[in-house]
Amino acid sequence: MTSFTGPLKAIKMTLISGLVLVGLVGAFSLSFSKSAKPDKGKTPQATSANYKAEDYVGADTCKTCHEEIYNNFQKTGHFKLTRYGNWTADNKGCEACHGPGKAHVDGGGDKTKIHTFEDQSAKQISETCLRCHAGKEEHNNFRRGEHWRNDVSCINCHAPHSPTATDLKMLVQKEPMLCISCHSEIKAQFNMPFRHKVMENTTKGNVLEGTMKCTDCHNPHGGFEQKQVRLATGGDAPCMKCHADKQGPFVFEHAPLREEGCTICHIPHGSNNPKLLKRNEVRILCLECHSNAGTVGAPDTPSFHNQATARFQNCTTCHVKIHGSNLDRFYFR
Ligand code: HEC
Ligand code: HEC
Ligand code: HEC
Ligand code: HEC
Ligand code: HEC
Ligand code: HEC
Ligand code: HEC
Ligand code: HEC
Ligand code: HEC
Ligand code: HEC
Repeated sequence: MTSFTGPLKAIKMTLISGLVLVGLVGAFSLSFSKSAKPDKGKTPQATSANYKAEDYVGADTCKTCHEEIYNNFQKTGHFKLTRYGNWTADNKGCEACHGPGKAHVDGGGDKTKIHTFEDQSAKQISETCLRCHAGKEEHNNFRRGEHWRNDVSCINCHAPHSPTATDLKMLVQKEPMLCISCHSEIKAQFNMPFRHKVMENTTKGNVLEGTMKCTDCHNPHGGFEQKQVRLATGGDAPCMKCHADKQGPFVFEHAPLREEGCTICHIPHGSNNPKLLKRNEVRILCLECHSNAGTVGAPDTPSFHNQATARFQNCTTCHVKIHGSNLDRFYFR
């Protein structure tokens, strides 16, 4: 994590999220009313106008009664929140999310005197997290995504301090099971004869660097693209991250790659057709564009291509560089 929201951006986000924040109750709501974002290198300002350092007790005090939670918490990335010495108390430790704890402690653990998430909507819970996490590009479109819109909150996927939180990135479950637990219809696509090897990860019991994950192609935190597809470097299709050889630029581009993208010919998850193609025969795919009734701008297949002969049926035996070529206009090499 390199940057949290700077003050200006923070104010903007506070304005944008203003409507949602109206719903928050009690002293905790005040914590959002001022823009105070932990920013590495900067000392975060108090989040509430009523901020009083003496209302906070620090995580060590919470530990005395909530030791198990504290111990789990200690294993998460959030434990850093206890260590930023120069941050105001309301950005630190347990109280960064649960609000001031003194009254709760003085009352011997009075449940009514501490912020819990029990009665909060999914959006309210997410706002708690976005207070600090809306700054990074990875998350700053969360409110534009389908998960936000459909009341999937941060804690549907992340466990702030459950025993499973020892997992990488505090995930409730590892990928792909995390995603499949809600998107069960997608699972079948990754069991088709030809597929990206996403489900194979589960047998290893671990998400390893370099194997496929749903989040290689999708940003679970939202984004501008349809289907929350990720953009790889340079704004190209997510596919380029791993298939850079298809990227070009080529001297002789095959127009649909540039104009319509990979999914005009390929099915991204899985398919009954080799090479994840949309059609079971390559030539059927080609002829859909390269025939009389085909795509505007796509030349007809020349008449010497006798479709009755096996020789011409397998288009890519001759047009081998079908994604584009630097040497040949017809993609022969
Ligand atoms: C990053 C935000 C965050 C931090 C930091 C945090 N919590 Fe929580 N806590 C939550 C959320 C969110 C829930 C509700 C979880 C749910 O409903 O699944 C919760 C639930 C709880 C609960 C009630 C449910 C349970 O799991 O028993 C207790 C008690 C609790 N937290 C204590 C603590 C203590 C103690 C600390 C510090 C050691 C702490 N929390 C740090 C966000 C946080
Ligand atoms: C003196 C002991 C004590 C200390 C210290 C303490 N708590 Fe608690 N806490 C309790 C008790 C007791 C409960 C109620 C448990 C129950 O009824 O299920 C509780 C409940 C909670 C709950 C859950 C409320 C709910 O509705 O389930 C949260 C959240 C919580 N504490 C957070 C904290 C945080 C954060 C701190 C440190 C700022 C803290 N507690 C310090 C004793 C303590
Ligand atoms: C007070 C600010 C603050 C709040 C509120 C907050 N976080 Fe964080 N979060 C942090 C910091 C700081 C880190 C550690 C960054 C680093 O590793 O450099 C972090 C790290 C994380 C990570 C990455 C952990 C890892 O292992 O890489 C996740 C996931 C996360 N937070 C989720 C949440 C969720 C979910 C919530 C709401 C329940 C939340 N955060 C609320 C400040 C916050
Ligand atoms: C639909 C599931 C899902 C939801 C909802 C979700 N996350 Fe995540 N998040 C993930 C997954 C999966 C990863 C790990 C991605 C990876 O392995 O690179 C992740 C990674 C992270 C990280 C660490 C990655 C980094 O940038 O270093 C943070 C921080 C984080 N999420 C915060 C949040 C916050 C805050 C919210 C709510 C606003 C949220 N997440 C909502 C699934 C989710
Ligand atoms: C708690 C349930 C839940 C979890 C967990 C979850 N999702 Fe979702 N997701 C939804 C819902 C609900 C929608 C919106 C309705 C829909 O499109 O199915 C959605 C929408 C999406 C969309 C957008 C679909 C569209 O039509 O625009 C993508 C992509 C997506 N999720 C990917 C993921 C990935 C990747 C993960 C795992 C990191 C994940 N989801 C985990 C519930 C979940
Ligand atoms: C190789 C990249 C890639 C991987 C890996 C991937 N997706 Fe997708 N997914 C896409 C693309 C591209 C689309 C958009 C397809 C389209 O528009 O025709 C999509 C569409 C979706 C949709 C919307 C489906 C619909 O019918 O509208 C959901 C939901 C989804 N993916 C979830 C997942 C889940 C869950 C995983 C992991 C189990 C996953 N994806 C893995 C690339 C991928
Ligand atoms: C995270 C890396 C990664 C991303 C992102 C990715 N792929 Fe792949 N792709 C692979 C790997 C690895 C293989 C070959 C190994 C295998 O069988 O899974 C592959 C295989 C393929 C194949 C050939 C399948 C076969 O049967 O030979 C096609 C076609 C393909 N990918 C298209 C795409 C498209 C289209 C996208 C974007 C929607 C995409 N890939 C995104 C890693 C990736
Ligand atoms: C005009 C249709 C079309 C488009 C668009 C297209 N492909 Fe292909 N692709 C094919 C065909 C046809 C094959 C099978 C070639 C063969 O028969 O060997 C293929 C094969 C592949 C293969 C497996 C064989 C190899 O060359 O590695 C990968 C990987 C692949 N495509 C990735 C991509 C990616 C990534 C994109 C987007 C940048 C893309 N394709 C766009 C038609 C297309
Ligand atoms: C989605 C539609 C589409 C598909 C599918 C498609 N093409 Fe194309 N193809 C085009 C368009 C459009 C052009 C660009 C014509 C231009 O720029 O003059 C083109 C150009 C070509 C050219 C170069 C023609 C020239 O005169 O420069 C060849 C050869 C070709 N395609 C072969 C194929 C083959 C073989 C397949 C099947 C593997 C295929 N195409 C699939 C749309 C398509
Ligand atoms: C045996 C090799 C071979 C096979 C197989 C083959 N082609 Fe060709 N293709 C050629 C040659 C040779 C040309 C003409 C190059 C020239 O005009 O100099 C050509 C040209 C084309 C052109 C460009 C026409 C234009 O006017 O610019 C298209 C489109 C095309 N082929 C589509 C296909 C399709 C679709 C298939 C599969 C059904 C296919 N080809 C199979 C050899 C082949």
